[in-house]
Parts: sequence; C-alpha cells; structure tokens
Amino acid sequence: MVSTTLLTLLLGVTGVFALPPIPSPSSSAKDLRLCKTSPTDPGIWITEEEKFTRFISKKINFVDITDTPNLEALAAEKATNLQVSTASIESAFPSGPAHQSQAAPLISALSQANLQTWTNGLANFYTRYYKSSYAPQAATWLYDTVVSVAKANPTITVRKFNHSYSMPSIIAKIPGTTNSVVVVSAHYDSVGSTASGRAPGADDDASGVVVILEALRVLAAAKFKPSGPSLEFHFYSGEEGGLLGSRDVMNDYRTRNVDVLAVVNQDMTGYSPNNVIAIFDDYVSLPLTSFLKTLVPAYTQLKVLTDRCGYACSDHASATAAGFPAAYVCEDSMNDSSPYIHSAQDAVSTVNFAHVLQHAKFTVGFLVEASYF
Ligand code: BES
Ligand code: ZN
Repeated sequence: MVSTTLLTLLLGVTGVFALPPIPSPSSSAKDLRLCKTSPTDPGIWITEEEKFTRFISKKINFVDITDTPNLEALAAEKATNLQVSTASIESAFPSGPAHQSQAAPLISALSQANLQTWTNGLANFYTRYYKSSYAPQAATWLYDTVVSVAKANPTITVRKFNHSYSMPSIIAKIPGTTNSVVVVSAHYDSVGSTASGRAPGADDDASGVVVILEALRVLAAAKFKPSGPSLEFHFYSGEEGGLLGSRDVMNDYRTRNVDVLAVVNQDMTGYSPNNVIAIFDDYVSLPLTSFLKTLVPAYTQLKVLTDRCGYACSDHASATAAGFPAAYVCEDSMNDSSPYIHSAQDAVSTVNFAHVLQHAKFTVGFLVEASYF
C-alpha cells in the first residue's frame, strides 16, 4: 500500500490533480480496501469480509477505489485543460439509426443456442467471485472462448488486462480506421451471498457476457471492418468487488488519453416480466442514452423503459467517472429485474434466452451504427 503522503508527493511531482483527503488505515491493518458509497463520501477502509456485511447483504452500492484513487481527478484535470465540464468531453451522436440494411444479415446470424451454451459454461463455475480459487479458471475459460470466437478474423486482437488480484479483464478489439474506440462491456465475475457461497451468476452477468461474445462472433465471422473507430469488447472482472476491473481499465484509458467515443454496458439481460429493454439515465451520457433509445425499436421487438440505478451500480459508472460517454442497458426496471441475483438461485433456468437474444440484436445494431462514428 502506498501511503497518502507518498502519493501526494508523487502527484506534486507529476502535476496530477490534487487528491481528495483520504483517511489512512492504521499501519498494522493489512488488506484493507477504501470503499465509497456516494460521490461525496471520502470513503472508509474496510476488509473484504466487511464488503459483504456492510454493503452486499444490504444491497448498498459501493466503489472500491483503493487501486484507482485518482480516476475522478484525472477526468477533472482533462476537462479543465479543455475548459469544459467533465460531462461534455464528448461529441454529438446521430439522431437515429442509419445502417439497418448493413446490420440485418449480421443480426440474422445471431444464435440463441450459443447464448445458452456459453451461459451454462460460465454458470458451471461454482462461483466467479473475483477472490475465489475459481476466478483464474473462469478467466482462462473466457479468454480461450473469446480467442476461439475471434479466430475467424485474424485482424482481431485479444488481450488480458491484469489487475492487483488474480482475475484479469479481457479485451477484444476489431481494428477500425481511426484512433478512436467504441466499447461494449459486461462483467464476468459473480458473487453469492457470502464469499464462499455458490454463485452461478447466470443473469448477473453471464447474460451480458454472452451478448457481447455473440456480437463479437457474428462480426468476426463476417470479417466486419469498421469504417471509423475500432470496436472493443470489454469483459470486466471484479465488478461485484466494487467496479474494480472497469475502474482499472478506464483509469488506464484516461491516463493514455485513449479517444473513447462511447461505452455501452450490458449488465443483466435475461429476465424481463415487462418485456422491455431498460436504459438507465443516471451516471451516464444523456446524448448517448438518447441515441440508444432510438435503436431499440429499430433493432429489437421490445419497448424502451427508462429507470435510474443509483451510484456505482455497474461498470458504466467507471467510464463516466473517467469522463467518457457511457450508457447502461438492462433487462427491466430496477424493481422488476431478476430477484435471484447475488445468490445460489441466479441459475440458468431463470434466464429467458429469447430476451437475451433481443439484447444481442440491439448490441449488433449499435456496433454497426457506431462503426461510422
Ligand atoms: N447487476 C448489478 C446491478 C443491478 C442490480 C442492476 C439490480 C439492476 C438491477 C451489479 O452487478 C451489482 O450488483 N452492483 C452492485 C454494486 C457494485 C459496485 C458492487 C449493487 O448494485 O449493489
Ligand atoms: Zn451485475
């Protein structure tokens, strides 16, 4: 653990924005994590176990900023340099869909059977909790699956993004013709009611992982070449530990000033009593969100529902914190989404794969549209 004093010193030297005051853990404390439950909360140092007792069991959203304490400050510094607000480091989005005929054959190639097979593969791990001994196995399984899907197009690269824990995030990239990137994301870790409990995480969030995996498969098989930005598929680890994987990746992209035009996160896609696609409108880019709402009737058979999910509810929040335009697409409203998550009951049998397929259609539609940004 780097001390606050040392960090302040380093930041002074490198000219990075001032750190918010962070209370230090006692010098004897080991493995404490700095967790926040609101934008203004300076955070408290707690053990991994306390994440369960204080937050997860009470359904309180939190972010673990231990490894990425400067993400928000980096974004604020970037905005100040550009003399704009953080929210407006983004250009306009189109007024609606314009590439339906190009997307149609790709959408026809989507396979509901693949969605089901891969969801089973992920849910078969006893847990995908990022600290468990199963985490590296789930990472290897997913990496190998992404590589095999991407093989159809040798220009696609797949890499592991390592974190401070033993579960890398995985990033696949379909190269475009510019330096900018458009990202679709989902988290592949899961969590049960305790650190050692069964956690199939079928809906949360194997269902989102298989959506972006199947989208990658059809684009790879068609040797799809974006006219503009590269298309990236981000499979994050550690989401349930407090957005760990996505914060690390977004911290890296912000530090390297990667030109991220849009991030569309899919977390929970297979349980929808109202038969809708929900688009959340807090901690997101409203222009990107408005654009996505126009794609739902163009690319799916479902209606759009708008809801809010609160501070740090999923990985889109990390992209927003980094100052990148981000959005969050979900299966239904907060109240009507799967009641089984974070338990042994989040089983494949509760997942509606016809609904997951609708999210895959939406995602392919979005990627084709975004390939012209
Ligand atoms: N998929 C959930 C978020 C969610 C839950 C969205 C219910 C819509 C309906 C996500 O994986 C999650 O559990 N997030 C945590 C916060 C996270 C930072 C630990 C949460 O919502 O408590
Ligand atoms: Zn989730």
